[in-house]
Amino acid sequence: MRNIIIGNWKLHPQSSREARMLARSIAQIASRIKNVDIVIAPPFPFLPLISAGSKVAIAAQDVFWEREGPYTGEVSGPMLRGVGARYVIVGHSERRNHLHETDEIINKKLKHALLSGLRPILCVGERKRDSDGEFFSVIKQQIEIAFAKVKRGDVTRVVVAYEPVWAISSGKSAKAAEPADANEAALFIRKTIAGIYGVRVARGVRIIYGGSSNAKNAKDFLSEREISGLLVGRESRDAKEFIKIIECAYTVS
Ligand code: PGA
Repeated sequence: MRNIIIGNWKLHPQSSREARMLARSIAQIASRIKNVDIVIAPPFPFLPLISAGSKVAIAAQDVFWEREGPYTGEVSGPMLRGVGARYVIVGHSERRNHLHETDEIINKKLKHALLSGLRPILCVGERKRDSDGEFFSVIKQQIEIAFAKVKRGDVTRVVVAYEPVWAISSGKSAKAAEPADANEAALFIRKTIAGIYGVRVARGVRIIYGGSSNAKNAKDFLSEREISGLLVGRESRDAKEFIKIIECAYTVS
């Protein structure tokens, strides 16, 4: 499966000038790389400034579940499409944590994103790993609720990002997962999807890893059988490092 490298800028950078510069450096390299999908997810205000004409696909970091109405502060799928977004991150652990997003909310956002023609990047992952493997049931529940009533024909438009919360760089003493463990979790995600939609559909879903990924460990993750990409946070805001990660994806593909 073709690799996808997604840069999640989170609440950075501070100015549109910096955002444009970062996007431009990434777009320059993107024009040389053929068989890797490259996506950047800037904050909402920067979306229309950097989408036009770029070879890099644009993702929003969040979306609401209604297309219009009395919902102060929210942004809909069609609005995001209108400013050039093709993907949207749904269910990131920072939103689950700080904004109390539940699996049910994430399910509504996922369905709205699909209906709007956006490709959702669904984030799942446990807060803690226990030696009994209880964390697998957390992932199973996140997947099953997120996909509730999602049409079979839409499933392969979803990219699932396995992001163990403890591995995300913003956490205290965060450290990337072991690639083999991430692969095992990705396989488990695929089996869970197969349990709902069957093996054939599940095989077509792109599953990626996120959590303290960088230019040094990218190759190890991307060489794993079940992993077809990376959701990169911190290192995606350093153009040089992000480009190295993209080049890694290019060489392993
Ligand atoms: P990180 O973030 O690469 O900085 O750990 C990943 C993410 O939160 O998506």
